[in-house]
Amino acid sequence: PVPVVAIDGPSASGKGTVAERVAAALGWHYLDSGSLYRLVALAAIRAGAPLDDEALLGRIAADLPAGFAGGRAWLAGDDVTDAIRNEACSVGASQVAVLPAVRNALFDRQRDYRCGPGLVAEGRDMGSVIFPDAPVKVFLTASVEARAGRRHKQLMEKGLAANMESLLQDLRERDARDAARAVAPLQKLPDAVLLDTTNMDVDEAVAFVLDLVRG
Ligand code: CDP
Repeated sequence: PVPVVAIDGPSASGKGTVAERVAAALGWHYLDSGSLYRLVALAAIRAGAPLDDEALLGRIAADLPAGFAGGRAWLAGDDVTDAIRNEACSVGASQVAVLPAVRNALFDRQRDYRCGPGLVAEGRDMGSVIFPDAPVKVFLTASVEARAGRRHKQLMEKGLAANMESLLQDLRERDARDAARAVAPLQKLPDAVLLDTTNMDVDEAVAFVLDLVRG
């Protein structure tokens, strides 16, 4: 079977950056599964669909005219790379992600990313639900203070307003929602390697994962 590196972890842990760099170093495909939930949320918002209408959201997810090409995210022919990162899509993604019909509709689409020579997949349930047989599973995390600090730095670099207290509170709430939800709760699996990046930079985290893959 085609090898998979499954990287799961909480919000703002840096797993996206690490996963993308590991994929580039190996020359493997890369799946940012969170983007798919963001695309479903955006498609629903555009269609005026209530984000808790499970049957409708399941159909939107199943028929999602979306994809990734040239490092950009596309929805019905529009470049929505920036749009899916906005606050409405972030909140919307976490709402639609609790709906089993949405998760089921995205299951095959995610599995299809597994093709040669290999895949680095990043999210909340890569190791538990989508690729349970992945030979390498990593639970990538960092303290809530470190994650809030990284997000603060990112926002400042973009010239956006950022408040440490509200970032901390937001992350704590997201963590609680991700861990407590009934479907695909975020957790460290027994067969996953814990990678705590609280005191690690990106290069060190990438090297750690590459060492795991290369044995
Ligand atoms: O880092 P952040 O939580 O802001 O964003 P993300 O990783 O893009 O995920 C967006 C939303 O999708 C979050 O609410 C996750 O809980 C959810 N998600 C999920 O349920 N399953 C995944 N495999 C990936 C993301």
